[in-house]
Amino acid sequence: MIETLYWEDNNLYLLDQTKLPHKIEYFRCTNYIAVIEAIKNMVVRGAPAIGVSAAYGMALAELDGLDLDFVADQIKKARPTAVNLFWAVDKVLEQYNKGISSVQTAIDMHREDIEINQKIGEYGSSVIDENDTILTHCNAGALACAGYGTALGVIRRAHSDGKNISVICDETRPVLQGARLSVFEMQEENIPVKLIVDGAAGRLMQQKKVDKVVIGADRVADGGVANKIGSLMVALAAKNYGIPFYVAAPMSTFDFEHNINDITIEQRDPKEVLCINDSYITRPDTVVENPAFDVVEKELITGIITEEGIKKPF
Ligand code: MRU
Repeated sequence: MIETLYWEDNNLYLLDQTKLPHKIEYFRCTNYIAVIEAIKNMVVRGAPAIGVSAAYGMALAELDGLDLDFVADQIKKARPTAVNLFWAVDKVLEQYNKGISSVQTAIDMHREDIEINQKIGEYGSSVIDENDTILTHCNAGALACAGYGTALGVIRRAHSDGKNISVICDETRPVLQGARLSVFEMQEENIPVKLIVDGAAGRLMQQKKVDKVVIGADRVADGGVANKIGSLMVALAAKNYGIPFYVAAPMSTFDFEHNINDITIEQRDPKEVLCINDSYITRPDTVVENPAFDVVEKELITGIITEEGIKKPF
């Protein structure tokens, strides 16, 4: 699997996810402002990948001799919903105040994220049965993390455990993380995969073509989970047809301080909805609402697969 991000010669290189799957290009960040822009523009996206990138952003700022408290506040404004961003920046600051360099903390976080995902994969594989077809939404894969992935990590592990499984990816309008990224990851590893439009998920469940749903999370909080827009409809359909609905997420995605209904749900540019590949698919002045995330209530969730085992939502 190609690397989502790497650190070389005191620069951060991010695989430009806006260009996938057609082009493999890295975006070089030489300062923290470039990292903020990359997070905002979704050059890098996915909760854990945003967190690790933010940590490297802090490292770049420390190398530039900047005030890290100020930079931390700036980086935290890049995107509002994935709690890993805040967690990572706070962790770098905490370590810095103990005399540990931000570069070192970022490198440690990068390595630990991959190890954590492998652990999630190990626990998650235990709920996947032979011949399962697993539906996933958005991209909670290696590309959404420092590597390996959370939801796709579970699938990756089940496949490498020798289970005969197949995957259904929702295309995930409007940014198409499912079609562009999850399908790509599965194809790269020869895991059987089928692409559907988001609206087809219910139909396939009704026809008993889905055995389990596994998605990632941007935040797990009191009362439920925030994840990519469209996750709620998938969860409701899964509940209706008695299909287990799992969330795979590291403990760094848990927010024990907020109720899920009190968190900020990012609203993104209407152009994401109005255009496909920069061409308008409707009148440019059409009124749009474009929430980037859903809240899935805890009653709809079978279990949360973490590096500490499978937990019940709280
Ligand atoms: O807007 P994105 O692409 O950053 O949203 C990502 C998701 O919603 C993922 O499903 C989530 O971050 C889990 S990533 C392991």
